[in-house]
Amino acid sequence: MSDKPSYKRYTVTSALPYANGPIHIGHLAGVYVPADIYVRFLRMNEENVVFIGGSDEHGVPITIRALQQGITPQDIVDKYHGIIKKSFADFGISFDIYARTSDPIHHETASEFFRKMYDAGQFIEKVSEQYFDEETGQFLADRYITGTCPHCGYDQAYGDQCEKCGTSLNATDLIEPKSVLSGNKPVLKATRHWFLPLDQYEPWLREWILEGHKDDWKINVYGQCKSWIDQGLQPRAVTRDLDWGVKVPVDGADGKVLYVWFDAPIGYISATRELTPEWERYWKDPETKLVHFIGKDNIVFHCIIFPAMLKAEGTYILPDNVPANEFLNLEGDKISTSRNWAVWLHEYLEAFPGKQDVLRYVLTSAAPETKDNDFTWKDFQTRNNSELVAILGNFVNRTIVLTHKYFEGKVPDAFTFTDSDKTMMAEMRQFPGKIAESIHGYRFREALSEMMNLARLGNKYLTENEPWKVISNDPVRVGTVLNLSLQICAQLSIVSEPFLPFSAAKIRKTLNLPAFKWKEATLLNWLQPGHVLDQPELLFEKIEDPVIQAQVQKLLDTKQANEAAQAMSPIQPAKDTIGFEDFSKMDIRTGTIIEAEKVARTDKLLKLKIDTGLDTRTVVSGIAGFFKPEEIIGKRVCILVNLAPRQLKGIESQGMILMAENPDGALFFVTPDDGAVNGADIK
Ligand code: MF3
Ligand code: ZN
Repeated sequence: MSDKPSYKRYTVTSALPYANGPIHIGHLAGVYVPADIYVRFLRMNEENVVFIGGSDEHGVPITIRALQQGITPQDIVDKYHGIIKKSFADFGISFDIYARTSDPIHHETASEFFRKMYDAGQFIEKVSEQYFDEETGQFLADRYITGTCPHCGYDQAYGDQCEKCGTSLNATDLIEPKSVLSGNKPVLKATRHWFLPLDQYEPWLREWILEGHKDDWKINVYGQCKSWIDQGLQPRAVTRDLDWGVKVPVDGADGKVLYVWFDAPIGYISATRELTPEWERYWKDPETKLVHFIGKDNIVFHCIIFPAMLKAEGTYILPDNVPANEFLNLEGDKISTSRNWAVWLHEYLEAFPGKQDVLRYVLTSAAPETKDNDFTWKDFQTRNNSELVAILGNFVNRTIVLTHKYFEGKVPDAFTFTDSDKTMMAEMRQFPGKIAESIHGYRFREALSEMMNLARLGNKYLTENEPWKVISNDPVRVGTVLNLSLQICAQLSIVSEPFLPFSAAKIRKTLNLPAFKWKEATLLNWLQPGHVLDQPELLFEKIEDPVIQAQVQKLLDTKQANEAAQAMSPIQPAKDTIGFEDFSKMDIRTGTIIEAEKVARTDKLLKLKIDTGLDTRTVVSGIAGFFKPEEIIGKRVCILVNLAPRQLKGIESQGMILMAENPDGALFFVTPDDGAVNGADIK
């Protein structure tokens, strides 16, 4: 093939997802589906390739999640690593290894990497002021601190990065910083750390990226790198004051770990090391092509920081390309794990069993390759029904069914080809090359749409030749038409494999064919006359409105729950400490409401008569918005009996009923357990 690359082998990595939540469609569309297409294609080209994946198990996102759920970071990563690994496998992401960074082999590899750079004097050791939460006694690394991004003004930027504009930050850059742990304003406190002097790599980065990769890196990737380099690179701390992570392998660095963005990319290397004793070939031989599949928020780490580390270490190759995607939105809103605004892979697999390829297809068609894109369930349904079912499935199915009907399921002979047959065959020969070119250029949408054009060609061919009409007077011609249509099916089974591996396998099974190499995709004689076909298998089926409606409803429910949660202001912090004397001044008794009526000309007030055990007294209470008078007669309550009497709407109120108030303002009685008589002292 003309586009045969000159590399001996490929190392293809896909961003290691944080093991703090399951995988969603944004991850898939941005990283794992394109990477898998690329790798499957390379394997069909008999390339030597390793496809690396794994969980990123360190870093503050994990420890924060653990804190929120009241469990340990190890519990969190064990749980999500399991869910993520299984969902990838069920979805057909064909990793050669799915590793994890909490594994000892990773700690060892990352440690050695750091140590080698340290020994070579490649870090700057610096005591600097870092934010510290005085209430919790902790340094606030990365996501433990939020504030306003100095670049775009987003007020939820993290201490290491603004997720809005993608800028990588130092915590001290944030405007109005706030501790995630206590909500307090942090103070600065001195601590010692190691820094990678990125500024020293600037000339080299300019040459390597801005000159060397001007034409082959995607413009969104190149553009981010350029603006980063043009803003001027600063030394970056590669260690943190945390206890979850890879320990800094230096004397006197107790309580410090490697920054997660230092250790995680090394995870690609440790995973390869775990996979094969020949790992060094995949990382150190210049005839290896290294490609990183990532989302746009990972660009600076993979294009600037990790390459600077690799360069500094000195024995590694650099990425040939970093085909980062933009973001996928969901029904017009940014996907968010914390707001549960996502389509989760493991839930999709449960709701749509056997339909991996439908999602792969939709996510590739709508891949955010050059700009952010939107996933909608409506679009999912349309692409399934009017593309997969109506074009690809329909063509393959019609061809096989007609062959069974007219030729007892045996491939008929092709005798004479008409001019239009020959034109059609010439077109067929073009497809594998076109698709390959798009894949080599990381243009997977384009590649997929070419693949579908082959199915369209097949449909057009069938429609123009109308075998169902011709059969009555020229069965020989029908034989030729079906022979060629079957060859198109065979070609589809080859070129669809990278995109739709489950369906490709079904087509192969129906055609009774083995898996072919990509170079065999232009042969056009995969099926010899007389070859016996299997029964047709349903490739795709129509997805009906109620199924889609259920998914849309699920999202609407999430939206509602989020809005309700947002309307609820947070639980009030505790008031100032008081002594017991203060408390004991209050005389609180149990009582019973014996009468209740609305106070005239107010919406809020009820006039209650309470049996306090001491006496019967009148209390005016602002609870009319929540309770009807007749409902609360007989209700047991707690009442503050020594509150000075007050006049309310001309009525003397002689005490106060204790109520619990939710953050959203809803009121509830504080009711004693049965057995407490009226007048019992509350202490
Ligand atoms: N866990 C990171 C994220 O989800 C990606 C890490 S990629 C690696 O954004 F290179 F560091 F592994
Ligand atoms: Zn920003």
